[in-house]
Amino acid sequence: MILEDRIEANVMIWQERINRLIKEHGSYVISDVTVAQICSGIRGVPIQISDISYVEPESGLRYRTYTINEVLNLLPRIEGSRYPLTGSIYYLLMGNEIPTLSKAMQIEDEWRSRAKVPQYVYDVIDAFPETASPMSMFSAAILSMSGQSKFYLEYEKGMPKDRYWHVMLEDSLDLTARAPRIAAYIYNRKYHGNQQIPADENLDLAANFAHMLGNDDPAYAELMRLFMLLHMDHENANVSAHTAHLVGSALSDIYLSCSAGLNGLAGPLHGLANQECCNWLLKLYHEFQGVPSKDQIRQYVEKTLQEGRVIPGYGHAVLRCTDPRFLAQMDFAKRNMPDDELFQTVMNVYEVVPGILKATGKVSNPWPNVDAITGTLQQHYGVKETDFYTVLFGTSRIMGFTAHVVWARALGKPIERPKALTTRHLESMISNSGYR
Ligand SMILES: CC(C)(COP(=O)(O)OP(=O)(O)OC[C@H]1O[C@@H](n2cnc3c(N)ncnc32)[C@H](O)[C@@H]1OP(=O)(O)O)[C@@H](O)C(=O)NCCC(=O)NCCS
Repeated sequence: MILEDRIEANVMIWQERINRLIKEHGSYVISDVTVAQICSGIRGVPIQISDISYVEPESGLRYRTYTINEVLNLLPRIEGSRYPLTGSIYYLLMGNEIPTLSKAMQIEDEWRSRAKVPQYVYDVIDAFPETASPMSMFSAAILSMSGQSKFYLEYEKGMPKDRYWHVMLEDSLDLTARAPRIAAYIYNRKYHGNQQIPADENLDLAANFAHMLGNDDPAYAELMRLFMLLHMDHENANVSAHTAHLVGSALSDIYLSCSAGLNGLAGPLHGLANQECCNWLLKLYHEFQGVPSKDQIRQYVEKTLQEGRVIPGYGHAVLRCTDPRFLAQMDFAKRNMPDDELFQTVMNVYEVVPGILKATGKVSNPWPNVDAITGTLQQHYGVKETDFYTVLFGTSRIMGFTAHVVWARALGKPIERPKALTTRHLESMISNSGYR
């Protein structure tokens, strides 16, 4: 299989580089950890090596070494499409190479051949009350496939360590092929009276996802290609990706790892922010019965802050610039839906909010992140149920999770076990050191 061959050809090179680092420079100190960092979410403390994606404060996300703009320009796409095939991004993340169109199509074919979802997965979803959160259904549906994990079954039979990643890759392709179908099933069951839309095998993964969500407008297929590209990964130290990696480090299979990662993504400070942002924008739009003026936005933002709430879609733990993923979606909207009033609201908010956040003097990054616009685009194409947006996000993000987990097994990364201290330990370490 194309990805297996590509990883196989690369694995030794990376292993040698890491082994050399450990052997020759194992005692080199790269950072000191402060008490403040330990007490505030281990912020900024380097915890691992990951070459799949990286976030730079001033230029944003890189997939392998490529910026979002480079990825958008360089990756192959089908004729007539402005946005790269999802298979090409997955190939880049897993294979560390810009693929040809033919290679990207082979990944799309792999997905087509693996997309059948076992009936018991649908039964698990059907067992949830309709009022259940779609993220719980999504996470549970993925978890339910663990019992049939190829990794788990071969591990039971005593497979050798150097086979781990091969079988993990098999599971990854199965899972990423099925995820859009599971997500669409949840969507149609929860919001559209269980009117399920059969997959169209002629379409690429993103266009098929758009189709199963009930919109066959070619512009929506384009949006979903862009959406899948922008949400696939964001460095392996954020809550969800790191959770998937951590769980995988215990040799838990890909379904256990990805389900755990999704549970982290479901938090309001992380993946749920796109839902919150869209609700906040819709409320703003309705409060002023149309596109609000900048003064009205100022008033609304001040009120949100006075209530002790954050402005959703703004700020970031690492970024210190407007998120290039926001800009790529803004470009899509300018081309495809310039007259959409919610989009015009987004643009006015973009002009007002950074100034207000800067003036607070405490917000590290006053600029919009990916979530400040994502939901607005979905609203335009008819996917209006905001509590589904984190499932959309997760459908793309698990692709990133799987790339990290497969590579962690390929490089033989060990189980993670950092150290927790008691408050007393810390107090006595400080007093014994003579620090004042
Ligand atoms: C993303 C986020 C969690 C990053 O947190 P962080 O790294 O701790 O951010 P900062 O270092 O800038 O936080 C410093 C202060 O600014 C505040 N702040 C940060 N972003 C803010 C925002 N969008 N609106 C209002 N206040 C904000 C923080 O709440 C914190 O206040 P405190 O000291 O009173 O607790 C934060 O910016 C946020 O909550 N944003 C809104 C939610 C969101 O868009 N999440 C999606 C991220 S992709």
